[in-house]
Amino acid sequence: MTSIYEIDCDNIDQSHLIRCGEIIKKGGTVAFPTETVYGLGANALDPQAIKKIFEAKGRPSDNPLIVHVASIKDIEPLVLEIPELAKRVMESFWPGPLTILFKKSPLVPYEITAGLPTVAIRIPSHPIARGLIAAAGVPIAAPSANLSGKPSPTTAAHVVEDLMGKVDAIIAGGNCEVGLESTVLDLAGEIPMILRPGGISRERLETALNIKVAEDPALNKDNLDGAAPKSPGMKYTHYSPRADVVIIQGEKKAVVSKINQLNQDYIREGKKIGIICTEESYPMYRADIVKSMGSSDNLDAIASNLFKILRDFDNTDVDIILTEAVSEVEVGRAIMNRLLKASGYRVIKA
Ligand code: TXA
Ligand code: MG
Repeated sequence: MTSIYEIDCDNIDQSHLIRCGEIIKKGGTVAFPTETVYGLGANALDPQAIKKIFEAKGRPSDNPLIVHVASIKDIEPLVLEIPELAKRVMESFWPGPLTILFKKSPLVPYEITAGLPTVAIRIPSHPIARGLIAAAGVPIAAPSANLSGKPSPTTAAHVVEDLMGKVDAIIAGGNCEVGLESTVLDLAGEIPMILRPGGISRERLETALNIKVAEDPALNKDNLDGAAPKSPGMKYTHYSPRADVVIIQGEKKAVVSKINQLNQDYIREGKKIGIICTEESYPMYRADIVKSMGSSDNLDAIASNLFKILRDFDNTDVDIILTEAVSEVEVGRAIMNRLLKASGYRVIKA
């Protein structure tokens, strides 16, 4: 049985939070909103509770979890050391959509890190997430609250769709503002490396820290013969709606005419097509289902809408989704990373 607790972000009902905190303390699972996406939480120090997360999501056990804490002080027991650079990163970007890898202490269970020597930690900024961690009084392990392989949930309805009956509680707390998961940052090497692009862009990291930041070269490629991504989660098929996704990339006008032409070709083959585009090109498409991600000038808005749009297509009968690419700057890199994975790296140049 899954209990649903509705909590208004601007007027938090503490009694609901306390009840959900108790569920976590007792080894149960609670889905809750964060500023990035909804997470599925359990006591990070309790291996039995962590197993419930993997079961509910159908998640491969070699994919480690992010641990969420409320303050920097809470990190100390979980890690061997906090390097100087990590301190600067934490000061600039926490609380917020950034996850940092640390050398793990023996307190962190094997199940959290899937046997890796590092633990991923984040302090979220969402008031409900923070309230839940405080109420539970323990660090909370939380992957995105979707069934493994599906787009991450950005509304409570998405969580209900995927996890109703599989978790102890769901906190319905509105829409997630960022809409993409946190950036995962590895500080172990000479140059900090982004293992998963996300809510905090490489440009923002470089500007704030005044250092060069790299991106795992194994990202954004169909790595059948290359090196595996350093973040285990990045190797799995992910973010996939039921329909096939194809990305069309190129100069704006050429993309519009290529998509309209592909649409005609597919219709002739008896296929039903959906289109994902930007606000500016929306009026130029002639197809049954056209969804706008937002203005191409506002990548944050596109990030915020993307997963909802991918999920909305599951309530239609389209066979193929043709989507415009976005420019790979700032958070656009994370958007393209998710689109590439959703499409299985199918890109057509216009
Ligand atoms: O925004 C987010 O990060 C959300 C919210 C709920 O906080 N959580 C989230 O968790 O996206 P999840 O489990 O869906 O993605 C975690 C990613 C995976 O790609 C995983 O492989 C990677 O982080 N990860 C976790 N621990 C790691 C580690 N020790 N080394 C490398 N990658 C790690
Ligand atoms: Mg996930």
